[in-house]
Amino acid sequence: MTDKSLSEITRVDFPLISKYLNSESELIYLDHAATSQKPKQVIEAIDSYYKYNNANVHRGAHQLSRSATEAFENARQITASFINSYSSKEIIFTRNATEAINLVAHSWGDANLKEGDEILISMMEHHSNIVPWQLLAKRKKCKLRYIGITKTGELDLEDAYSKLNEKTRICSIQHISNTLGCCNPIEKVALKAHSVGSLIFIDACQSLAHKKIDIQKLNIDFLAGSSHKLCGPTGSGFLWAKENILEEMPPFLGGGEMIQDVSLNESTWADLPHKFEAGTPAIGEAIGMGAALTYLQSIGLNNIQEYEKDLTKYLFKKLEIIEGINIMGPKPSDNNTRGALATFTINGIHSDDISALLDTSNICIRSGHHCCQPLHKYYGIDSSARVSLSFISTKHEIDTFIQELISIVKLLKENS
Ligand SMILES: Cc1ncc(COP(=O)(O)O)c(C=O)c1O
Repeated sequence: MTDKSLSEITRVDFPLISKYLNSESELIYLDHAATSQKPKQVIEAIDSYYKYNNANVHRGAHQLSRSATEAFENARQITASFINSYSSKEIIFTRNATEAINLVAHSWGDANLKEGDEILISMMEHHSNIVPWQLLAKRKKCKLRYIGITKTGELDLEDAYSKLNEKTRICSIQHISNTLGCCNPIEKVALKAHSVGSLIFIDACQSLAHKKIDIQKLNIDFLAGSSHKLCGPTGSGFLWAKENILEEMPPFLGGGEMIQDVSLNESTWADLPHKFEAGTPAIGEAIGMGAALTYLQSIGLNNIQEYEKDLTKYLFKKLEIIEGINIMGPKPSDNNTRGALATFTINGIHSDDISALLDTSNICIRSGHHCCQPLHKYYGIDSSARVSLSFISTKHEIDTFIQELISIVKLLKENS
């Protein structure tokens, strides 16, 4: 690294952000947890596929199809090595993380669960990691149980240990919470889950772009990720699962690409990973996701984590001085690897008013329930405001946001 900060080096890569560099008006994007901005390396990779390489994959004998297939399968290799997968056959391309979770809940869940079995998730989950399990529990007459939250807004590990028992078939939790920001102790939960014969699924949407992930070290069975949260395009994501588990799972969707042989009454399935990729895949998007992962790797996940850690501490220090603020989740410290975000409420002020007024100053933050309604209900609130950072975020952006927030709080309190 040079003397320049990580954001100074990388901001120039992001057209939507860099067009405001040195301009009078400034766009302050602090909603990276909802979706990340895209660097030119990703936009160019997608552009180049459509300009020079566009053909369907795995089908044609022609040269163009072969080169499109090569680029598409290269994206799979990149994804596999990004998380230290045992093999690229274990990477299934999906539309997003939500589809990856649904794939497992349907294919693995329908084939393996029976009445009385238990599914364990947590109170802090995103709806994507709740609803598919609720539907599965209903279909198979299983019990859906929830791990609670500690007073500091973290996963209650003791509660997880007590709820993991010989009836638990799968435990599915977030790696980093998109609302509380806590980083969950996956290795510990995985160890206990495996000791009672349960599988473990990790929703890595909020961690993949922020810290190094090694599925072998985490000792997990499934992991889901969304491309648009890691500087890649929308419409693309992936499921990682252990090869032996995928081999045993029946197909999720049927159609072209996922078959080996089709006759009038039955069909046989293609080898992994194609068994789970019915129809023409999102080729350009997968290539874009591969370019995004390569881009993140070129910056270095450890550099990203260190930079964001410092920035998150700075954000908390500034937020904490605001009168009437309640910040959710654990405080950042040297001992925790907290997500680079802060979710808060301010007494007497609705979070929608905060975000709408910030927007008038070109500052983008998120308000609402962040697809975590059970968590908000647990805290007795229906909405909160969330600021989320990335390696392109700066202290200057945080200062400007805080200044505006202070004026908004003052204005709203005077008029209430
Ligand atoms: C923790 C977490 N899980 C799952 C999702 C769902 O991601 P997608 O809508 O891309 O499938 C999100 C998106 O906000 C998230 O933050």
